[in-house]
Amino acid sequence: MRKITYGSRLLFLFLSASFLSIQLAMASQGGGVMEQIESADEPFDSMKIDSAHQLPLKTVQAQELYQGGSFKVLARKDATDRFRCSVCHNNKPVLVQDGALFTHGDIIIHHGLADNALACIDCHDAEDRDSLVDKQGRKIDFDHSYRLCGQCHFRQKRDWLGGAHGKRETYWAGERVVRNCTSCHNPHSPAFKTKMPETYSLPLDE
Ligand code: HEC
Ligand code: HEC
Ligand code: HEC
Ligand code: HEC
Repeated sequence: MRKITYGSRLLFLFLSASFLSIQLAMASQGGGVMEQIESADEPFDSMKIDSAHQLPLKTVQAQELYQGGSFKVLARKDATDRFRCSVCHNNKPVLVQDGALFTHGDIIIHHGLADNALACIDCHDAEDRDSLVDKQGRKIDFDHSYRLCGQCHFRQKRDWLGGAHGKRETYWAGERVVRNCTSCHNPHSPAFKTKMPETYSLPLDE
């Protein structure tokens, strides 16, 4: 009899001790936002925030600075049809059977001035089709096409760098990831059509 009570007392002690330690662990972890803020011992800027929004997998470090620091842009090569270009553009003679499809007959340029549209090689490197090219003849990677656009649209690029044009993919806290110019604009026909609102308010007296 005695032995049993002693044993069950020990068991009881053990159970209550482990229950207490679980409670303590939960309290120190702090489930709520307020607890997290109060217990934070480092600035939130460098804190990892679990995002509800799943980022596209491929991002690259931008070759520009934002407020003196680095940031990321969405990569484009994976999202670009017909990349890698050198699969065909390799100076090997080929028999072209389906000409319209092969020669990009589907690409129509609506970019530039009406009487002076941009030519393919204003943007694409004539020798190395896997690269874009700037006005000084320097190659630009497809993932960094904002540098190509920024030569001519420097105001939009400045606004984009500052966050007033374009869109940020991540929230205000944590790492800055923004969309590339070509995530939104088709470089061959970049303007958006004017869109009328689908609903409108009725006049008040009706
Ligand atoms: C399926 C094969 C194929 C792929 C892939 C391909 N091209 Fe082409 N492209 C052609 C053919 C064929 C022509 C017409 C012949 C020519 O001008 O070399 C052409 C023409 C062009 C031209 C106009 C050419 C000129 O020389 O006057 C440009 C610019 C061009 N391609 C860029 C690209 C870029 C950039 C990519 C990759 C994103 C790409 N192409 C991928 C087959 C291809
Ligand atoms: C204003 C600059 C510019 C001009 C002009 C231009 N391109 Fe492009 N092109 C780009 C950029 C930037 C991309 C990559 C787009 C992206 O990030 O999705 C691209 C993508 C492409 C691609 C791969 C995507 C697709 O639509 O198949 C082909 C092929 C291509 N260009 C061919 C051409 C040809 C041919 C011409 C001339 C008729 C031309 N481009 C004119 C900037 C330009
Ligand atoms: C070589 C110079 C040059 C480059 C490079 C260039 N553009 Fe343009 N773009 C022009 C010109 C010129 C116009 C027509 C004039 C205008 O409307 O401002 C234009 C027009 C536009 C328009 C329409 C403007 C409007 O008001 O309707 C957009 C959007 C645009 N470009 C985006 C881009 C993007 C995105 C890129 C990079 C992929 C790019 N441009 C690269 C010269 C350029
Ligand atoms: C999140 C999508 C998005 C991104 C990223 C983006 N743009 Fe735009 N851009 C737009 C929209 C939408 C408009 C049309 C605004 C309107 O019609 O009033 C526009 C308008 C423009 C125009 C026309 C003139 C103007 O300011 O309204 C130019 C030029 C332009 N963008 C260039 C760029 C360049 C260069 C980049 C990259 C540095 C870029 N855009 C990135 C969505 C974007």
